[in-house]
Amino acid sequence: MSSTLQQPPSVHVPKLHVECVTALSADDLAALCEATNAAILDGGGFGWITPPGRQALERYFKGVLLVPERDLFIGRVDGVITGSAQLVRPSRNNEAQNHAVTFMHSFVAPYARGQGLARLMMERVEDKARAAGFRVLNLDVRETQQAAITLYESMGYTRWGEHPAYARVKGKIIRGFFYMKTLQRDGADGH
Ligand SMILES: CC(C)(COP(=O)(O)OP(=O)(O)OC[C@H]1O[C@@H](n2cnc3c(N)ncnc32)[C@H](O)[C@@H]1OP(=O)(O)O)[C@@H](O)C(=O)NCCC(=O)NCCS
Repeated sequence: MSSTLQQPPSVHVPKLHVECVTALSADDLAALCEATNAAILDGGGFGWITPPGRQALERYFKGVLLVPERDLFIGRVDGVITGSAQLVRPSRNNEAQNHAVTFMHSFVAPYARGQGLARLMMERVEDKARAAGFRVLNLDVRETQQAAITLYESMGYTRWGEHPAYARVKGKIIRGFFYMKTLQRDGADGH
């Protein structure tokens, strides 16, 4: 009598990768635009409320790569770009705030959420800011972006202010929350 050993079902563990890029291949640009489009349609991605179209998105990202104060981070799941974030350094004339950077335009496409990509992007952005000698990371978020708010608060960001008329989405005025985190050289961050 022969017996067959049953194999346990294989579980796919997604491979996450985050990098700061200075150029994008045509395939990467296409994936980034697709992810951005999907995030905007879902209700959150940059300031766009309606997708501006593929050409405008391509021009936008090519433009971001040219801005000296901006670092573009992209997040991949199994090699495909599914999210991005930007780190914005103060302009040279802003000597009084040359200790602080701003985290902006973070999103993960709806089809890639819940796998830890946003948290990894945030960690990489903090690493880069810390390594560049910045001591404060600022960010702001619409009151309706609950997943992002939970993420930032879980990573030690302190809400220091509210803007009562921060954004207008589909005719409705919504609040914005302002957060900051102190970055320490040794990685033991606080607020
Ligand atoms: C916010 C966003 C980037 C999170 O992306 P993600 O890759 O799914 O997030 P992660 O899987 O890395 O989750 C990290 C943490 O975020 C929080 N989070 C994620 N999804 C959440 C949800 N649906 N509800 C509540 N908290 C959530 C949790 O704290 C989570 O940690 P945990 O998995 O240990 O519980 C994504 O939902 C998004 O793009 N939203 C729309 C755009 C946006 O809000 N951008 C931020 C603008 S400042």
